[in-house]
Amino acid sequence: MNLILLGAPGAGKGTQGKTLSETYKIPQISTGDILRANVRSKTQLGVKAKEFMDKGALVPDGVVVNMVVDRIRQDDCVNGFILDGFPRNLNQAAVLESTLREMGKKIDLAIGIDVERKELVRRLSGRRVCRKCGASYHVIFNTPVNIGMCDKCGSEIYQRDDDKEETIEARLKVYEQETLPLIEYYGGKGLYKSIDGIGSVDKITKDIMDAIAKGSSNS
Ligand code: AP5
Ligand code: MG
Ligand code: ZN
Repeated sequence: MNLILLGAPGAGKGTQGKTLSETYKIPQISTGDILRANVRSKTQLGVKAKEFMDKGALVPDGVVVNMVVDRIRQDDCVNGFILDGFPRNLNQAAVLESTLREMGKKIDLAIGIDVERKELVRRLSGRRVCRKCGASYHVIFNTPVNIGMCDKCGSEIYQRDDDKEETIEARLKVYEQETLPLIEYYGGKGLYKSIDGIGSVDKITKDIMDAIAKGSSNS
């Protein structure tokens, strides 16, 4: 099963992707997480990407697309994968499609997690993330059992550099301009399903799993 999680910054792609990955035993491929790992270890790619990420802008397609293609070709993706944060514009979607076609694969479903703007800002401004495994928490809505420590792996949790108010606004704008057209792109292929992203994390997971069980309107 090859799945895409679509949704605005803060919609819950990372949160849901993690659980889905554990449930279906297929990797979650978060371009944001891969880029942040590169920023942290100061690779050439990371140094370049940071300039864009700090502004809330998209990192150039060339960089991100190669990163994802390399990742999808790895052995652990043979039974499927969950893309979180990719594709993010029509060009990335087109390259993904042609790459998968060459590999004899395809996207089975694109799930959009729907959350209103005011709630997105609330979620992003209170978010904390695990430095090691990338699990997402929230200072009010989704607190870890031990303050400052990840429930899943025990590592330190921190606030992302791009979760500042001005950067959040920029990211939401980029989402509306660049990423929103993907709803129509996948909708036109009969591959899009939208899920209400308001409610408990578990309820949303269940709704996504129900949508996966029903499959796309193509299958
Ligand atoms: P990326 O890391 O992908 O960030 P994003 O798209 O802005 O999305 P987020 O990770 O902020 O949100 P999320 O949907 O994962 O929400 P989460 O589950 O954490 O990208 C970062 C940057 O990298 C980009 O700006 C860009 O520069 C670059 N980049 C990445 N991919 C790229 C690409 N393909 N092309 C070019 N550039 C790229 O949840 C958010 C918060 O809400 C958490 O606190 C969580 O605990 C809480 N929460 C989750 N669910 C619920 C719920 N049901 N109720 C209440 N709270 C909840
Ligand atoms: Mg995320
Ligand atoms: Zn962790």
